[in-house]
Amino acid sequence: MNPIVFGLPGNENLAKKIINGINAEEGNFIQRQFPDGETYIRILSNVENCEIIIVCTLHEPDKKLLPLIFFCKLLKDLKAKSICLIAPYLSYMRQDKQFNSGEAVTSKYFANILSDTLDSIITIDPHLHRRTSMDEIYSIPCCVLHASELISNWIKTNIPNALLIGPDSESEQWVSEVAKNAEVPFIVLEKIRHGDSDVEVSIPQIEKYKNHIPVLVDDIISTARTMIETVQHLNNAEMKSPICIGVHAVFANDAYNDLIKSGTLDVISCNTIPHESNKIDVSEMIITELNRKK
Ligand code: R5P
Repeated sequence: MNPIVFGLPGNENLAKKIINGINAEEGNFIQRQFPDGETYIRILSNVENCEIIIVCTLHEPDKKLLPLIFFCKLLKDLKAKSICLIAPYLSYMRQDKQFNSGEAVTSKYFANILSDTLDSIITIDPHLHRRTSMDEIYSIPCCVLHASELISNWIKTNIPNALLIGPDSESEQWVSEVAKNAEVPFIVLEKIRHGDSDVEVSIPQIEKYKNHIPVLVDDIISTARTMIETVQHLNNAEMKSPICIGVHAVFANDAYNDLIKSGTLDVISCNTIPHESNKIDVSEMIITELNRKK
């Protein structure tokens, strides 16, 4: 029996591509808000004994989590066989340590909730910094896919004479991989974070690369302060205007416009979170993984 795919609100485009790519049935449901803000859900498809795939990327997670939990509880009540969540962006990965006493390590709590709700997860480049594997916090199978090859191919096709730049040591894992496949040089900058929106960046060996097009690559662009600081340093060092590439276009508040205005040539992202900067499509990679599992 083919799986049934439900694209939760905002995930319809990716869900459609997946449905076509794996020859699945499209799940039929109604989800809306009551006037008081509570969520109404009704599943119209017959899901009994069926493998279910939910497509729901998890940026802005606080407003998505409760409807997702309700959706999964309803699926279980309707006797679905299994539930796999495709969350191309998996949130709550960054608070992975107690920095100050009394702080919640929310990555662990979030992982506990999802592990209790789902049977498996497929995600793309989760922010594994102080943790090496999803298994450290998730107790269900998590398949981690990587966008680095897609980004490398995009750079190869679109940017001649690129110099890859990682804004901080945490980004080295992405940048080194992308640079290797794109066959271009890379440098990693040093970042000191003074606060949520206050970041200082220093640039090594800048003279050597004056004729290259700087390409900043990071996993998440959130406030964009990391990118903006880097762009400003490159501008001050009279480097060419850079292209900024993020896997996950989180873009809190006005971050996208602020980044555009900071002196970038372009801002590019993968479609793990729907956004106007999306130019690198991850759907084929997800489809390949789902077909491999069949
Ligand atoms: C670091 O933890 C991440 O790899 C990114 O550098 C970070 O999330 C970017 O955040 P922001 O856009 O708020 O500077």
